[in-house]
Amino acid sequence: MRLTAELHCHIEGAAPPQLVRRLAIRRGVNTEGLFNANGSYAWSDFTSFLSAYDRAAAVFREPEDYAALAHAHYAGAAREGMIYGEVFISPDHAASAGLSFATYVEGIAAGMEQARDETGVEGRMIVVGVRHLGREAVTRAAKAMIAHPHPLVTGFGLAGDERQGMATDFAHAFAIAREAGYGLTAHAGEFGGPESVRDVLDHLRVTRIGHGVRAVEDADLMRRMAEEKVVLEVCPGSNIALGLYPDRATHPVGRLRRAGIPVTINSDDPPFFATTLGRDYDETALAQHWDAAAVTDLTRTALRAAFCDEETRVRLLARLDETHPS
Ligand code: ADE
Ligand code: ZN
Repeated sequence: MRLTAELHCHIEGAAPPQLVRRLAIRRGVNTEGLFNANGSYAWSDFTSFLSAYDRAAAVFREPEDYAALAHAHYAGAAREGMIYGEVFISPDHAASAGLSFATYVEGIAAGMEQARDETGVEGRMIVVGVRHLGREAVTRAAKAMIAHPHPLVTGFGLAGDERQGMATDFAHAFAIAREAGYGLTAHAGEFGGPESVRDVLDHLRVTRIGHGVRAVEDADLMRRMAEEKVVLEVCPGSNIALGLYPDRATHPVGRLRRAGIPVTINSDDPPFFATTLGRDYDETALAQHWDAAAVTDLTRTALRAAFCDEETRVRLLARLDETHPS
């Protein structure tokens, strides 16, 4: 089986609807309107997606709920060939459910470690601030991360509604995380244009960009990103579900890759977008006419850009080379 690695997946966005329904009953949370008739999440645009995401997150009330979620995510992805996966974790979502940052991290780590013991899949966490909650909330997220270090928490990022706020609002939070040695990434170029991508490169000094696909609209920016080797966490299934592009064949991931920008493939919020990491790899490769070597390259690019220690990176790259000799 082809091996995959993932850099961009929101832990609450990976929640299987069945798990959310089960926990909602146990925790007494009302989920009216959260699911449609066939049992999947109900939403119709980015704004209603973000609100469905918040409602699904609200059923995870105890560390064991998060352990079950992390285990379900990692064990499921490992069955489809994932050997390494990072997840975005959000202290603001934990706080809304009454969980402290440290308890939240410990719950997720427990599920991640159980999946690693069962399947060998490695996981890391990236703390994200939620952009539409404003500058102070994002700074608080960075400070919570620094105050409660955990060996599996290795990066800091920015998620949420890109149409709100300016990159400069979050420069202080990113400076705190950078100073403490965390890897940096930010969502940009999903609902914002090329200027939004430029802003997070200039002001947040990230090495990776979440989505970044709208950089394709600006040839100068694409040249800069190829030169600076800015890694794109591309999420084709998510972009199509949210209506950015009509299908995988016309999705700009191929043009970005041919421009020499390091691209990776990611699932973002898989059950919300009727995808999985395996499907995103396989269906994008098919639509873009990528051969097996190109697919191995996607996994290699993700491992090289991963926010993990060098020993883990070398071990995983060796595992990839053994399975898919070039
Ligand atoms: N949070 C969860 N999914 C997201 C996305 N695709 N963009 C921004 N914030 C998100
Ligand atoms: Zn995302």
